[in-house]
Amino acid sequence: MMPKFFSFTLLIILISSSSCFGINPQNVHPSSKHFHDIHSESPTVALKSSVLINQHKEKFLNFNQFNHVTVHGARRSRHTTINVDNFGAKADGQTDDSQAFRNAWDMACNSSKKSIFLVPKHKTYYIRRINFTGPCKSSMKVEIKGTIKAFSELYEDTERFWIKFQKLRNFEVRGGGTIDGNGEIWWKNSCKIKKSSAMTFENCMNLKVNNLHIQNSQQMHLIFEDCVNVKASNLKVTAPETSPNTDGIHVTKTQNIEITSSDIKTGDDCISIVNGSKNIRITNIVCGPGHGISIGSLGEDHSENYVSDVLVDGVMLSGTKNGVRIKTWQGGSGCARNIIFKNIEMDNVFNPIIIDQNYCDQDESCQEQKSAVQVMDVVYNNIRGTSASEVAIKLDCSDTVPCKRIVLDDVNLSRQGEGEVKANCSNIIGFDSLGTYVFPRCPNFSN
Ligand SMILES: *[C@@H]1O[C@H](CO)[C@@H](O)[C@H](O)[C@H]1NC(C)=O
Ligand SMILES: *[C@@H]1O[C@H](CO)[C@@H](O)[C@H](O)[C@H]1NC(C)=O
Ligand SMILES: *[C@@H]1O[C@H](CO)[C@@H](O)[C@H](O)[C@H]1NC(C)=O
Ligand SMILES: *[C@@H]1O[C@H](CO)[C@@H](O)[C@H](O)[C@H]1NC(C)=O
Ligand SMILES: *[C@@H]1O[C@H](CO)[C@@H](O)[C@H](O)[C@H]1NC(C)=O
Repeated sequence: MMPKFFSFTLLIILISSSSCFGINPQNVHPSSKHFHDIHSESPTVALKSSVLINQHKEKFLNFNQFNHVTVHGARRSRHTTINVDNFGAKADGQTDDSQAFRNAWDMACNSSKKSIFLVPKHKTYYIRRINFTGPCKSSMKVEIKGTIKAFSELYEDTERFWIKFQKLRNFEVRGGGTIDGNGEIWWKNSCKIKKSSAMTFENCMNLKVNNLHIQNSQQMHLIFEDCVNVKASNLKVTAPETSPNTDGIHVTKTQNIEITSSDIKTGDDCISIVNGSKNIRITNIVCGPGHGISIGSLGEDHSENYVSDVLVDGVMLSGTKNGVRIKTWQGGSGCARNIIFKNIEMDNVFNPIIIDQNYCDQDESCQEQKSAVQVMDVVYNNIRGTSASEVAIKLDCSDTVPCKRIVLDDVNLSRQGEGEVKANCSNIIGFDSLGTYVFPRCPNFSN
């Protein structure tokens, strides 16, 4: 036990030293004295995408071992099963089963034996807003085999969640069942009301979410907030393409998270990663329709935001609005750093590769401002497929805080159907394509 913990602590220290957390963005402003130091770094070391990729692999190898040991510790035979049906849940299509769920939870969470909270299969349970709060006395699993559905009257409520799990350690949710947010009424009134996310995990550590179908959320489907050590896998997330703000998986203030082997089709970002998140590994994802994989938006309302150490490896995007995107507001600060997008296939994607450092999404004027969220050390490796628009690569960096060290390594994008593609790139310090085939090419950057 001790050596494991120790190596994990070391890992955290290692990770912290390579991230941009806590770095004041003013220190890396090109007009400051640091400009020359950065510029004189050996370009081959700074830019080698393989170096960055290997660093990521090492990190996540260690992290996965840690996750494996802590979450799988228990043997099934020592579990007590706590079935919601034994606490009065009716699953008759009209009864509110919330109280039965709450009573079953209190029993399971309070049990000194490892327990399974069971939602049986072939049944649909209607529940209202509910929070499942820990810490629990022992590690536990929630097995959702049937369907849990939201009442549409929930719509009158002002809270921002439907089902929330919070303050849990060594916790797992799985089972092959369905979580249905019943979101139509929210979508119709989307501008006028506060919206709920379907499933929120807040303040959790050593968490696994595996094999679930989450659909028709009121707003975002799955949120990980303030969590450490998370593995989300084999998830199916579906909502109509036209449903507003229905992000698939949203990651905020979360460290050490792996999202893998999942299929996401919604009306907004398939996966969005925002402030306070680092060590994110996203692999084997099918995305679309939706808005793609997004880092940001960051820096809204002049805020200071950080995201670092993100590996996106193996994504198939079809018919999405964006492919892989980094989106930051002018006037913000902080940084987005150490980001790798690799092995990405695009099919008819409107903005396949996009850095938008001048993001502006409202009517009030978005004038050029002095500060911006720094975007640096970003690698695009083995990206191919088709663009639905002419500008297949858009690296729109800020005048005042340019992007630093952006690598396009082995990229081939062509136009869906007839027509040309081009790249539109501005304000990048340290652009490289490592001598590989890159098409379309940024016109102002030669190497
Ligand atoms: C947990 O158990 C303790 C004593 O065993 C009891 O006092 C407490 O009310 C229980 N809590 C819940 C939420 O059931
Ligand atoms: C969680 O639910 C309980 C019972 O409904 C409520 O008393 C409590 O305030 C809720 N906590 C949060 C953080 O929403
Ligand atoms: C961004 O995340 C960091 C780290 O969690 C936090 O300290 C900071 O307050 C957050 N910033 C904003 C604007 O929420
Ligand atoms: C780039 O993609 C196009 C369209 O798929 C293909 O015809 C072409 O051979 C590719 N070029 C390279 C160098 O891979
Ligand atoms: C490139 O992008 C900039 C900023 O969005 C825009 O103003 C400009 O018109 C674009 N240029 C081309 C050739 O598309």
